[in-house]
Amino acid sequence: MDKLGCLIVLAVSFGLLHQAAHTVRMEKLADRKICADKYCSYVISVAEALEDYIASDCRFINLKKGQMIYVYSKLKPVEGAGVFWSGSVYGDRYMDQMGVIGYFPYNHVNETQIFEKKTIEMPTTDMDFFCD
Ligand SMILES: *[C@@H]1O[C@H](CO)[C@@H](O)[C@H](O)[C@H]1NC(C)=O
Repeated sequence: MDKLGCLIVLAVSFGLLHQAAHTVRMEKLADRKICADKYCSYVISVAEALEDYIASDCRFINLKKGQMIYVYSKLKPVEGAGVFWSGSVYGDRYMDQMGVIGYFPYNHVNETQIFEKKTIEMPTTDMDFFCD
């Protein structure tokens, strides 16, 4: 490899290391999840927030009563813990929060529209619980 190639490789690996250092792996909330597809990229349903919810750490998102939420995954309940779904808030009034996906307690929302009746169950990964 020439000198320039080496420098580029070094720069790229340093960049990746740097990025990894700023990413925090949080404890998993569950071992299994339900999604509409293998990548959890399709919206399972639309839900409406029934009450406010304040995220307790970066794995979660805030909800305000009345907000609409796209649901992307549903964690399989773990005994002795809450039941959490993941999703993101949408709507013209919430531009700042749009696109941010996080978990929230399922009993804070009411599913109003189901898009994907067929879902698949699979294991969660550490990536599901990363914080930036
Ligand atoms: C949930 O949504 C359905 C359909 O929109 C509605 O009929 C029902 O009253 C809602 N439930 C609550 C608790 O708001």
